[in-house]
Amino acid sequence: MPTPAQIQFDEIDLDAVAEAVGRVVIFVGDDAKLDAGARKVNTLTRKTVDRFVQSDGFEKMAVGDVKQLGYPSGLTAMGVIVAKLPRRPSASDARKAGAEIAKLRADDDLLVLAGAIARAEEIALGLALRGYNFDVHKTDEPKPKPATRFMVTKPEEIAKAAAPMAAVAEGVFFTRNLTSEPANVLTTDDFAARLAGMQELGLDVEILEEDALEKLGMRTLLSVGQGSVSPSKVVVMSWNGGGHEAPFALVGKGVVFDTGGISLKPAAGMENMTMDMGGAGVVAGVMRTLALRKAKANVVGLVGLVENMPSGSATRPGDVVKSMKGDTIEIINTDAEGRLVLADVMWYAQERFKPVGMINLATLTGAILVALGHENAGVFSNSDELSDAFIKAAKTEGEGAWRMPMDPAYDKLLKSRIADVKNVGGRNAGSITAAKFLQRFVNDDLPWCHLDIAGVASTSSATGFAPAGATGWGVMALNRLIADEYEG
Ligand code: BES
Ligand code: MN
Ligand code: ZN
Repeated sequence: MPTPAQIQFDEIDLDAVAEAVGRVVIFVGDDAKLDAGARKVNTLTRKTVDRFVQSDGFEKMAVGDVKQLGYPSGLTAMGVIVAKLPRRPSASDARKAGAEIAKLRADDDLLVLAGAIARAEEIALGLALRGYNFDVHKTDEPKPKPATRFMVTKPEEIAKAAAPMAAVAEGVFFTRNLTSEPANVLTTDDFAARLAGMQELGLDVEILEEDALEKLGMRTLLSVGQGSVSPSKVVVMSWNGGGHEAPFALVGKGVVFDTGGISLKPAAGMENMTMDMGGAGVVAGVMRTLALRKAKANVVGLVGLVENMPSGSATRPGDVVKSMKGDTIEIINTDAEGRLVLADVMWYAQERFKPVGMINLATLTGAILVALGHENAGVFSNSDELSDAFIKAAKTEGEGAWRMPMDPAYDKLLKSRIADVKNVGGRNAGSITAAKFLQRFVNDDLPWCHLDIAGVASTSSATGFAPAGATGWGVMALNRLIADEYEG
């Protein structure tokens, strides 16, 4: 599986620059003043750097942009990457520069001369995140992993600051790997096995199989998976780094493939529904990051893993099912399946763990794409405090999140003639009625957010920190929320 670049932080040794292979990276601020590393490259290349930083081309670059000077004479390296960055960059500019460097490096070794620049660890994170490439199903001869070496003034200090960032990159890659994987590979069994593999990091991982779910009364979740040959499961991951306090709960929709069921989706674009487990993927990625950085918090992550297929045993439109909570649901459209999965898992999470707060993530509605596109996830919440804290964390991490309304007036759209509620509310306000459906399964006094990530989990063109495909959106925001609000 793709793993983030392992970055080495070394003492400065400018004598090694001339013979470095691959690409050499230097940083120059708006003032065009060269630091010692840039001066060394400038001398070796007979003032090529000077000529560049005095050009229009350099002046037009924005902070965080990069340009490559190809095949410079005087160096063994095939390129010098010049990143425009002040000595004390903001975290987001530093990350951006790292991501831009990753785009230019191809598969080559990098020597990053970061002796004079602050936030080298943020540059490293951007570099790692943007270096993603899901190539596991390509049969080309695998290339050896290139080396990434930073030269810095205080290697131990930087390495220490970079460790939690490496844990973030690992979590994001884990989410992207899950979200990218096709559904014939990432079956519910395979998904559960990959989560069980995280026990070696110190997470508790428990897998509830169909008989156990049946006993718990999770009929709405089971009704989604009953048309598939893959067994439905709920996986519970616990990270206990915070003593005896009640945990924070994360809940993810893990539909490994969504055909729509008997309410079958049209063929065009249906292949994208391999990513319909993206919410569960984010929960898994966050748990991985928390474990890797040994977070001082208690967090439980629960995912409902099902496949939504049409078959002789599939749920029909018109069927009425009973949830674990006890409410009955008239299933009008079997393609509105994510909310059915979440209803039972969220109820179970509250009953079992009595969490202090809960956030669920789901690729829940196409309507959120209509509303917010690929730039922002929809945030639906019963708590100003929790949603404000989440949106703040997301903003800090550069992950778009926008609060949506959920007034009681929308509830009437879900009234059923024969059951307590129906599973769809019609064309209007589709993301909101989905959120209102979920809210029925949340205790009023529990601070809760629902994140509709259908637009942000995967994109058809590259974003700042990810190539086209799975983004891992939300891992960084949730990790920061836990760090800022729930760690002592
Ligand atoms: N998984 C889909 C939502 C989705 C759409 C995710 C596009 C990612 C990209 C969800 O299960 C679904 O099918 N929702 C329906 C709900 C409708 C039947 C009320 C939708 O959005 O069309
Ligand atoms: Mn669906
Ligand atoms: Zn779905």
